[in-house]
Formats: sequence, structure tokens, C-alpha cells
Amino acid sequence: MACLFWFGMALLLFVLPAKSDDIPDGAHSTDCRDCYFVVTVDVSFTGEELHFEAVDETGVYPITQQYSAKCGYTVSVLPRTHQVELRASYFSCHTENKDDDVFTFNFNLISNHEGKQVTYALKKTCTPSLPWSPREVTCETNYMEVSVSSEMACPSGETSDDWNAEKPAPAAPDWQVVFHRAEEQLTPMNLSVAREQGYSIEMTDRRIVIRTAYGQPHSSSLEVNGVPVEVVHATLFSKQSWVFIIVDLVAACSMHEGSYHDSGYMVWETPELLNPLQSGLNNTEVNIGIRGELVQQPAAEERGFIVEKHDGLVEISIPYNAEGAYRKSFVSGGLHEFYVFNLYLEQIFVNKDHEETRQRYHRMLASPLLPLHVFTVNQAVVEEHEFTVYLGDVPDDIELSAVELNGHRCDAPFKNTSGHSVIEVFHPNNTHGYTLKVPFDDPVVLHQLSKEDEAMKHILEVNYTLTVLPENEPYFHLTSVVALSDIAPPEIDAVCAESGIIFKLDNRPFDYLWHISIGSDLLTPELATQKGYILTNDSQSLLLEVPLFTHGYVYEDFSLKGFTGTFEMLVKDRETSEVLSSALKTCQFTATEFIVCSTDGKITVVADLSLGGIPARSTLRSTYCGPKEADDTRALFHFPLNSCGSTVKLLNQRVTYQNEIIYSKRHFSESKVDSEPITERLIVQCVYPLAGLHRLFSVHKFESDTAGVGKIIRTSQSSAESQETTTVKPRLQELYVPKLNPAQI
Ligand SMILES: *[C@@H]1O[C@H](CO)[C@@H](O)[C@H](O)[C@H]1NC(C)=O
Ligand SMILES: *[C@@H]1O[C@H](CO)[C@@H](O)[C@H](O)[C@H]1NC(C)=O
Ligand SMILES: *[C@@H]1O[C@H](CO)[C@@H](O)[C@H](O)[C@H]1NC(C)=O
Ligand SMILES: *[C@@H]1O[C@H](CO)[C@@H](O)[C@H](O)[C@H]1NC(C)=O
Ligand SMILES: *[C@@H]1O[C@H](CO)[C@@H](O)[C@H](O)[C@H]1NC(C)=O
Ligand SMILES: *[C@@H]1O[C@H](CO)[C@@H](O)[C@H](O)[C@H]1NC(C)=O
Repeated sequence: MACLFWFGMALLLFVLPAKSDDIPDGAHSTDCRDCYFVVTVDVSFTGEELHFEAVDETGVYPITQQYSAKCGYTVSVLPRTHQVELRASYFSCHTENKDDDVFTFNFNLISNHEGKQVTYALKKTCTPSLPWSPREVTCETNYMEVSVSSEMACPSGETSDDWNAEKPAPAAPDWQVVFHRAEEQLTPMNLSVAREQGYSIEMTDRRIVIRTAYGQPHSSSLEVNGVPVEVVHATLFSKQSWVFIIVDLVAACSMHEGSYHDSGYMVWETPELLNPLQSGLNNTEVNIGIRGELVQQPAAEERGFIVEKHDGLVEISIPYNAEGAYRKSFVSGGLHEFYVFNLYLEQIFVNKDHEETRQRYHRMLASPLLPLHVFTVNQAVVEEHEFTVYLGDVPDDIELSAVELNGHRCDAPFKNTSGHSVIEVFHPNNTHGYTLKVPFDDPVVLHQLSKEDEAMKHILEVNYTLTVLPENEPYFHLTSVVALSDIAPPEIDAVCAESGIIFKLDNRPFDYLWHISIGSDLLTPELATQKGYILTNDSQSLLLEVPLFTHGYVYEDFSLKGFTGTFEMLVKDRETSEVLSSALKTCQFTATEFIVCSTDGKITVVADLSLGGIPARSTLRSTYCGPKEADDTRALFHFPLNSCGSTVKLLNQRVTYQNEIIYSKRHFSESKVDSEPITERLIVQCVYPLAGLHRLFSVHKFESDTAGVGKIIRTSQSSAESQETTTVKPRLQELYVPKLNPAQI
């Protein structure tokens, strides 16, 4: 290492390693900055494991952590960008320096990609765009470097009289350095000893450079206006022939670590004047850089950077989301994020002689771990019968890799099926979101009856697996959404059958919310038995067969062809008995013979008189009462119970109304054409339970709770005998069940 002499340059061309590979396009860039080279390597091309070597004519020097601080190299990993950055000071140990004006950096980039080590030999030549200031101080992240012009090698004050303006001869062997710590002056040492102790002291063509890692034994830590400052103060001196040359070098750097303010700024501070030795200096300018390049004041303001001077401090505030800042999500007992900003700052000071000092800082500012909030909103519209859950504010380094819906897992990439779907939504503010849609009837949705709401509760518990990239660290975000939807009363199907009407409904778990009734009677197995209905009920469905002429029918449209029967089942609110819905079924029934005894006291009867009479001529007991309708074989009578000569009998709590259909049987004997016709009679009877009758003896009004039971009784006797109906034992046609034909309406 030692000093680089410009005449050594020619040799360099021959020491480059013979074996080297071509670096892939786009994998790296090398640029010139004000006072350093910057090499950026994209690790996605080269592999994560990489290191650098500096190369000069004397050999190859691995840039290790310790070596880089001593020799002017800085390697940093830029978070989230897959980039590694190497900065090399123009005065770094192995950089070829021509007249402090042209600098050439030869280096090897060694990558270890999948176990294969590859060496790329690279080279960059730079000429600084600005002339060197008399004093330049660099506060790198890992070292301090100060360079002064050789012309400055005359300290102010009393020694200036001894100075004869001759340049110090860099090669002079008798240079000594003495470090000052606070008020203390330490023992002088020669340059070999100083270098052994980790200092780099170089004398270039026109400058003297001294570099040291932070925290060396000869440095001092001060606090200036509340900000920690590290100072290295060295005096170099040499006695050359009769001239005594003395150079004073001071490097002072603010060691402020930066702070994070709730307002969203990272703040870094440096004292306006770093140490008492600088008294008489004026800080004239502060410039901020983005990615190592200074920007003009208005441009900095536009980006939200704030530079303020107060209480002897310069305070730099950088919005955490400023251009050039990196944001990173992090899983650590929850979801967090932090911000990193690589601050590059230049301060210019002038002294009373208008001599300039340029001080440059590289500082990495990091916010603390801040809680990161993703949110979910339930955007469901119940009418659409679907959950719509939006997961928002997901940063761009987090992606949704799975969702668990009530424990049913779906992994990304999400299929856009007819069932549930997940659709990603992007926003311009570098966040994105996911819209999850799950129809209520999707098998994953849980349902629960909500008694207090009398509604069906649909429940969806969502466990989102968010993956933080590139570490693939999972974070689970849970949300639970509930929707209520009204539950409808059961739907009852009804069909007409030959002998009645059949009602059917599906049993559902929440059907206890209502009652099913027939008129005012609650439908129970007991009621069914009592009324002659056939009830079949299991966990799946309920089937109720209502035979014709059982309780609850309303009959209408009587004719010889038949009549209609209507039966109604009601669905009532369990609490209020309010009728919520009903199933009303009307069926057409046909029968050759029937009798209907209505609740309002009408008897309707169709009788088969085919045994011989002329149906149209038949009458009831009162001969004024003829049939309403008749054909060749049958007659239809429709008359009030109490009329047409009916008799009433009260027996065993039952009231029996009875009448007769009287008709003349035709006589087909040829010999006795004039013989008297034989009178035949059919007894028609309606029996009502006494308890259900409201106006038993009222002539004009009849009202019964139940329909009466009708009978048609045929007698086998002749007209003379049959008049005494009480004495004749009638042939009782059992409870009359007509032959019915199914006819659906
Ligand atoms: C520097 O000082 C050390 C110890 O004082 C001595 O051993 C060494 O020879 C000196 N080197 C030079 C080049 O004078
Ligand atoms: C520094 O600035 C102050 C006020 O602006 C001025 O009074 C002082 O003379 C300046 N000092 C130098 C060394 O320029
Ligand atoms: C998913 O389906 C919906 C509706 O059919 C459609 O609007 C949407 O664009 C689809 N999304 C994707 C990612 O295919
Ligand atoms: C990002 O933009 C979306 C859509 O404009 C907005 O809803 C969300 O709150 C924004 N997030 C942040 C963190 O600004
Ligand atoms: C969420 O899902 C993850 C991964 O399947 C599981 O480990 C975790 O226990 C789930 N969390 C809850 C609360 O169910
Ligand atoms: C029919 O069965 C279901 C379930 O077994 C029961 O909840 C319901 O009360 C029953 N209905 C009647 C009318 O018995």
C-alpha cells in the first residue's frame, strides 16, 4: 500500500488477473462522485454472497470490514433493492492517483453463486468535477478522512513565521505524527508506527490525507450542543534540512444516530460548528444528496427535505417516504415496518481568509420498528347474498399467499371460480389490497340462527396469510364477518289426490320459529289422529294427507259432475300467531253420489237414482223441493237443513237433521200400464255435534263449528212400509266415502 506514485501507473495494466469472467449486463455499475467511486452490484445477477478486492501493482487486497475502514472503502447493502454498494474514496489505499486529478480504481468482484466462485475484474477512472477544497473532511459510515492541501501545511499562529512555503516532501522518512486528545498531547510516533495502529497517512502530489476508523484510541468523543461528536486531531511534523514543517489535521464528525418523529420525519443533527478548533469558521451551505448525488436547495425542498439551523445545530428532516428512502416490512411479534434513508450531506465552511472546508457525511438513518396496520372492511350488501371483504393498505413487499375461510384453506394463485374469489387491487401509493367475495351459500360459510334477530346469521372467519418478501416470513391477519339475512317461513307444496289433498314441506332446523295450523288448531300428531288426517313427519320433511270430508274443507261449485274442495294450511308466527303465509289448495273432485252438510246449515246431496226413478221428478219430503239439477240417473238437491220437511232429532249430544229423496220407480210391466208407480225413498241425514251449534232452533240462521257428517241411507222396503222410517231398519251405508277422481286445479 503506502503512497501511490504516479509513475507506478504503467505497471498496473499488467497485474490484472489473467483469469476473469465477463460480468453480466446490468449486473453492476461504477460511477464517479465528488470524492469517491461508487460501485453498485445487483445481487440478483451475481448471487447474494459477494465480496470485493482492491487491486494495484503491489497485489490484490481483500476488502474486509477492518481493512475497508483503514483504507477508505465502504460496503453497504441497500435494503430491499437487491443491491450491494461499494464506495471507494479517491484517496483509498489502492487507487491510482495522477496529480490528484485522475483516479483509477481496479477491483475484483467475486461472487459465489450456487457454490461456484466467479471473479470479475473491473476498472473505473474518474476525474472529480470540482477542484479540491483546501480542506476536505469525509465522515463515512465506517471511517473519517481528512485531506488538506499541501499549501495549508503551515499552521496559523506563531509557527507561521518558520514556514518558508516549501512543499513537504512526502517521501521524507522523518515525518512524525502526534495526536491530541482533548487538552492532552500524546507521544509522537513515526508514520510506520501510526499505520500499524490503524491510521492511514498518505501524502499525495498536492495533498496530505489521514484516515481513521471511528473509535480509535487517539480520538476524542465530545458533546457539542447536545450532539455527540468524534474528533481526531493530528499534527504532522517534519524537520527537513533546516526547515521545520508542521501540518495540523482535524476531522470532526457528528455521531448523531438520527431520530424518528411521529410526524413521519427522520431527523439528523450536527452542530453548526463541530469543535472549538473550528471557531472562526462559518457554515455557509448545507446540501443534501439523494443516492450520493447532491441536489439543489429547491429540489430538496420539493422532496420535503427540511434544513433548519437553530441553537447552534443544523437539523435535517427527511420524510420517511422521501425519494431514495427504503421501506421494509418486518414480522416481529406483529406486523411492523421501518424506513431507511442513506443520507448524503455536504456542509461548506469558510474561515476568515475565505478558505473553504468541505465536509461530507454518509449516514444511514433508520426509523424504529413501527407498527404496520393492514385493515379489513366488510363491504357486503346483504341483498347480494355474498360477503365482500376488502383487505387494504398492504405494502408492496407483502403479498397474500393464502386465505383460510372458516378453516378451509385456499392458496395463491387464487382461482376465479363461481364460488369464492380473491381479486387484487393496486393503488398508486404503493399499497395494494385484496377483495374477497364469498357467497352466503358457499359451503364454507357457517350459518347460525339468531333468535333475538329472528334472522339467519352467516359467519365467515378469515385467516389471511400475508407473506413478507423476500424473507417469506408469514403473518396471519384475522377477521370475522357476520351478515344477517331474513329467514322465510316454510314453503308448503300441495297436490290434489284422488281422495283428498296432500301437503308437503321440508323440515328446516329453524322451523320452530313458526306454527303450522289448520284454522285455529295447531297441527300436532294428536290433532291429525283426531281429525282423520294422515301425518308423516321425519327430520327431512312433513307430509300431511287430508282426506276429503275431513275437518277443514270448504266445498263449492256443486254440480252433477262434482265439486271443488279447498283446504288451507296456515303458517303462523310462534309468538304473535300472526299468519305469515298459507297454502290454500283447491281441487276438483268427481263423484257419482255424495252428501255435504255445511257449517252454515245447507245440505247438498247428489243421489244416484238409477234404480228406476226419473231423477228430475224426484222431490224431498216437501214435494215443493225438487232437484236443482238432474240427469238420467242422478239428482242434485241443495236445501237448508230446517226446510223441505226435514226432521230434527237430538240424541247423545248430537243433532240429526233428516230428510228423504222421494222418487217414483218406473214400472216396466207391459200388462199393467196404468198401475200405480212404486214410490221409493232415500234418507239423507246430517249429524252435527250439539256442542258446536250456536243457534239450534233458529229457523233463519244456522251456524256450526264443524261441518256435519252426512249419510245417504237406502231402504230396501216399498213405499208403504218405508214411511215408518223409525221402525224400519235402514241399510246403513257406512260413513259415506264417495269414489273420487284426482283432478288437479
Ligand atoms: C519508527 O519508530 C519505531 C519505534 O520507535 C522504530 O522501531 C522504527 O524503526 C521507526 N521507523 C522508522 C522508519 O523510523
Ligand atoms: C460569520 O458570519 C457572521 C454572521 O453572519 C459574521 O459576523 C462573521 O464575521 C462571519 N465570520 C467569518 C469568518 O466569515
Ligand atoms: C373474476 O371474475 C369476475 C366476475 O366474473 C371478473 O370481473 C374479474 O375480472 C375476474 N378476475 C380475474 C382475475 O380473472
Ligand atoms: C392508499 O390508497 C388507497 C386508495 O386510494 C387508500 O384507500 C389507502 O388508504 C391509501 N393508503 C395509505 C397508507 O395511504
Ligand atoms: C391462521 O392460519 C395459520 C396457518 O394455517 C395457522 O397456523 C394459525 O393458527 C391460524 N390462526 C388462527 C387464529 O386460526
Ligand atoms: C316434525 O318433525 C320435526 C323434526 O323432527 C319437528 O321439529 C316438528 O315439530 C314436527 N312437526 C310436527 C307437526 O309434528
